[in-house]
Amino acid sequence: MFKFGFSVDNAKEENDKVESIGTVLDWFPAVKIEVSHEQLSKKCCEDDDFKECDLFYDVRLKLIHSDKVVIDLQQENCENIVEAESQHSDLIPAKYEGGLKVWECSYDLGKYLIGDKIPLENKSVLDLGCGTGIIGILALLNGASVHFQDYNTEVIKSVTIPNVILNINDRKHVQERCAFFSGDWASFIQLRGELYRNDYEKYDLILTSETIYNPDNQKKLHNIFKTQLKKNGSAYVAGKVYYFGVGGGMRQFEDLVEKEKIFETKTVWNSDEGVQREILKLTFRT
Ligand SMILES: C[S@@+](CC[C@H](N)C(=O)[O-])C[C@H]1O[C@@H](n2cnc3c(N)ncnc32)[C@H](O)[C@@H]1O
Repeated sequence: MFKFGFSVDNAKEENDKVESIGTVLDWFPAVKIEVSHEQLSKKCCEDDDFKECDLFYDVRLKLIHSDKVVIDLQQENCENIVEAESQHSDLIPAKYEGGLKVWECSYDLGKYLIGDKIPLENKSVLDLGCGTGIIGILALLNGASVHFQDYNTEVIKSVTIPNVILNINDRKHVQERCAFFSGDWASFIQLRGELYRNDYEKYDLILTSETIYNPDNQKKLHNIFKTQLKKNGSAYVAGKVYYFGVGGGMRQFEDLVEKEKIFETKTVWNSDEGVQREILKLTFRT
């Protein structure tokens, strides 16, 4: 369950700063993160460093122990994580956005992609707000090349990259088939513009799970779909119908998309038990 320890209602977006009930949030700028030689050559031991997890169907991934990563990051005095842990919070806006653990809707999205046989082979995929990276890894194992993006650099370096390395068949190909980014979505667009100038560098698929909880960030998310998706590409947004305490949710995100008049939307999956969850597919209007 969400442990939202904050309220960001009535916030106003201005460039990459958001004013929220009298406080100004400074969002970290986007950066590309390279995979180090040390990470590529590191040997990991089952139980000590990672465990094999049955996710769904016959999908079994090796996942680094996030709880151990949290302890290491605290010992290294990683400010954002120390603060999140001291507040027992999964999210502190603009400081830590929750990427150290696997959230419920990423299982929904993974199951949907495999169950509905969404073509992934030779596709260029963005796992947006990737956290542990299980969705991107699933795409990678099914023949896609994948860019992983998470807000926190520490999440990308300590969890996402190790998870990718643990699961890819040939480590040598990590740098060819993957790229990693951290920082705010607004400046991610700017960074992509500087790094990749051609339309063919855009994505066939943008996959994102549990990223619509904060209404103040939804426009940024929409802008990524608008600017980074190929004309015939699709975005799949997995999320809860309503996020208590923060105001975001699927209907409200869908309203924003409708108002912008860029994409058609279709609910391709919804839960029939527990907290209401859905997957929304976005394609460009013709
Ligand atoms: C609740 S976590 C979900 C992680 C993962 N997708 C999952 O379902 O397990 C939300 C993710 O959205 C990303 N995020 C939220 N706000 C962001 C922002 N303004 N800029 C960049 N990333 C953001 C963070 O990277 C974070 O990992």
